[in-house]
Amino acid sequence: MTAPLMEKHPTTEPVLSVRDLRVTFDGPSGPVRAVDGVSLDLRPGEVLAVVGESGSGKSVTAMTLLGLTRGQAAAIDGEVRFGGRDLLTLSDRELRPIRGAEIAMVFQDPMTSLNPTKTVGRQIVDVLRLHTGASKREARERAVGLLEEVGIPQPQRRVDAYPHEFSGGMRQRAMIAMAIACEPKVLIADEPTTALDVTIQAQVLELLAQLRETRGTAVVLITHDLGIVADLADRVAVMYAGRLVEQAARDGLFYGPQHPYTWGILASVPRLDLARAARLTPIEGSPPQLDALPAGCAFRDRCPVAFDACVERPPLEPRSAPDHLDACWRDPAERPALRAAAHPAPDAGPDPAPHPSPRPPSGSSSHPEVSA
Ligand SMILES: Nc1ncnc2c1ncn2[C@@H]1O[C@H](COP(=O)(O)OP(=O)(O)OP(=O)(O)O)[C@@H](O)[C@H]1O
Ligand code: SF4
Ligand SMILES: [Mg+2]
Repeated sequence: MTAPLMEKHPTTEPVLSVRDLRVTFDGPSGPVRAVDGVSLDLRPGEVLAVVGESGSGKSVTAMTLLGLTRGQAAAIDGEVRFGGRDLLTLSDRELRPIRGAEIAMVFQDPMTSLNPTKTVGRQIVDVLRLHTGASKREARERAVGLLEEVGIPQPQRRVDAYPHEFSGGMRQRAMIAMAIACEPKVLIADEPTTALDVTIQAQVLELLAQLRETRGTAVVLITHDLGIVADLADRVAVMYAGRLVEQAARDGLFYGPQHPYTWGILASVPRLDLARAARLTPIEGSPPQLDALPAGCAFRDRCPVAFDACVERPPLEPRSAPDHLDACWRDPAERPALRAAAHPAPDAGPDPAPHPSPRPPSGSSSHPEVSA
């Protein structure tokens, strides 16, 4: 595999910068802080994986970037910088040309973004004409080309099919074709392969990897699947209860996880090259209620190494290395021993190779998941 763009151009300015994003819903028993101070940068051509348990705020974060949580009785604060503007301050009308053209989203369920009453080709043509001003003929030719690019067989014929005539995998790919039609700078993929069988899943992931390589598209990849993270991500952000608790380069996170929550989700995947072979052990306890979070560190009630200081909320900061952020009060020097005591390593074989290949063997088996 060629080196990720980010490694080739480490100083490249972020294409998308999120600062202190907060999304609070009106819940029946008080405010629900679904996203609570999330900050992250996405650089051109990089794949940033966002992982975390169900309900940790991954989708609400992604949707808010594109203005899709507006009108849901949500209070939204913070800043989302893209192309020199703060997207949170734009009207829906101003956002429309950006959404779909410059930042596109692939949803977990293709039927939420494919219109069942229009042919797949017509939907891609509409996107192209809206955003690029292409003629009908040009747009149709391009639609056929895109369907071919995403691996839809007989694209000349399939372009006139309706979504219900496609299999689940083909719908997912059609949605990706629509998302990449205008060559977006940023693609946000929310669990893009969960509903797919392993072979199609591998093809869709390969497609995302190619997009990054050939077009420099930056990808925010939301997933429960640590195998996918190992295969595709340059960096990883770990979410817990609406907050980012750790953010690091992929290898740094797999080989030197700093936050006790990350220790938990990696408990049986101690090595990147074992990510596909091991099953995750669930973390004890349940995710906290977002309308009744404990004071201080949100992970406090489940943390195996909580101590007095944890009644204060720890900020996300570089503590163990300049480019490795975490939100935990424990001294980085003490963490390896604390982690070893909390999660005794399974028999993991010899020490990891210094430069493991994250690529799966062809026909690789299913991946371990972040427990829900
Ligand atoms: N419109 C809404 N009104 C009130 N609460 C909401 C709303 N949308 C989401 N939430 C709450 O916000 C929290 C975060 O939800 P979100 O969908 O972002 O989780 P997630 O991390 O994407 O989970 P999953 O992995 O299951 O997709 C959840 O507790 C959810 O119940
Ligand atoms: S701050 Fe405290 S409770 Fe939170 S993860 Fe660190 S040790 Fe555990
Ligand atoms: Mg979600």
